[in-house]
Amino acid sequence: MFNELIAPGQDPILALTVAFRADQRPDKVDLGIGVYRNSAGETPVMQAVRRAAMDLAETQPTKSYVGLAGDERFNQAMTDLLLAGTAGHARAAAVQTPGASGALRMLAELIATARPSATVWISRPSYVNHKPVMESAGLAVREYPYFNVDTKQVDEQAMLAQIAQLGPDDVLLLHGCCHNPTGGDISAASWQRITELALERGFLPFVDIAYQGFGDGLQEDAAGLRRLADAVPEMVIATSCSKNFGLYRERTGAAIVIGESAAAAAKAKAHIQRLARGTYTMPPDHGAAIVARILHDDELRQLWQDELTAMNERINQLRAELVQQFRAVAQSDRFDYFGQHRGMFSVTGLSAEQLARLKTDHGIYVVDGGRVNVAGLSEAAIPTVVKGFLAVGA
Ligand code: LMR
Repeated sequence: MFNELIAPGQDPILALTVAFRADQRPDKVDLGIGVYRNSAGETPVMQAVRRAAMDLAETQPTKSYVGLAGDERFNQAMTDLLLAGTAGHARAAAVQTPGASGALRMLAELIATARPSATVWISRPSYVNHKPVMESAGLAVREYPYFNVDTKQVDEQAMLAQIAQLGPDDVLLLHGCCHNPTGGDISAASWQRITELALERGFLPFVDIAYQGFGDGLQEDAAGLRRLADAVPEMVIATSCSKNFGLYRERTGAAIVIGESAAAAAKAKAHIQRLARGTYTMPPDHGAAIVARILHDDELRQLWQDELTAMNERINQLRAELVQQFRAVAQSDRFDYFGQHRGMFSVTGLSAEQLARLKTDHGIYVVDGGRVNVAGLSEAAIPTVVKGFLAVGA
């Protein structure tokens, strides 16, 4: 049966991780997969997470099944974190999912169930897994212009011109904050315009927010999403605890649906539960149980927020340091974009040939397409990165 299979293409992010691990050079630098590292190069377990996990180990009464929607205290807390105070909050329903990829897939399947003819519009470029996940659910995928690689800025005019053409059969997939891969975020004015266009044209906003708290702060990073949730009749959200709780391997995320009414959202939730039953049945409990404990406990929640703020500040300091060292060595402000972008990533515009030389000659691993994970840098590695970039003609 399997002899006939054609070998599948590799995921560029995960393949790079494998190549980096196999590299024996001690001064190699991993700027690939989106993982936060401290100055020692470690991805530590957050204190709030460790405390909640220890508490859980001591007090959790059973490991029996939870249910198709996962932990409802988690679902409530995630919904509140994103939507409290918006008009959409009372019409929202959430399902815990295995990571945000699980949420993306469940929401894509939901859309395919409700509107098989729908086209999902993703940014050019977008997270490498957006297109495969949407297509796996049988949805058509098209791209809207997003990033100008020469200016390293979002081309908001071109983006809005395309969005203004969308209609009721279209789904607009937006990054809530900290755009992956570019690091270029949508301005408040554009979020407002997108909201008006959604109302005028009738397309469905689909917000993927995997980095809340890694840009300008927990509330600030959800401002665009909240603007939409205040105005539109329907929208869907995929959210993740991988980065802002550091729970990467626990696969903790949620799919949230805002319906025209609370009853409509509940019906959508029932469909997601049916879809989950047909795939993984129930999401893994551990990560969501930890998050629920943190978000429902004032002291743990404060500790988590403080730790998240510290990570956020460190990323922004690394960005400032990159700008400063590039300015000093290259005598140029052409790398200032590192300071303007937000979140873990920046797109550098380096060619495939430059990326290959960075890897082979300098042991610097950057994802195809030129995405750099700034949050994976250590302060000590910045001079190596600056030197390597300039040596390949960046
Ligand atoms: C990334 O973009 O590096 C992360 O979101 C990891 C992943 O799942 O691809």
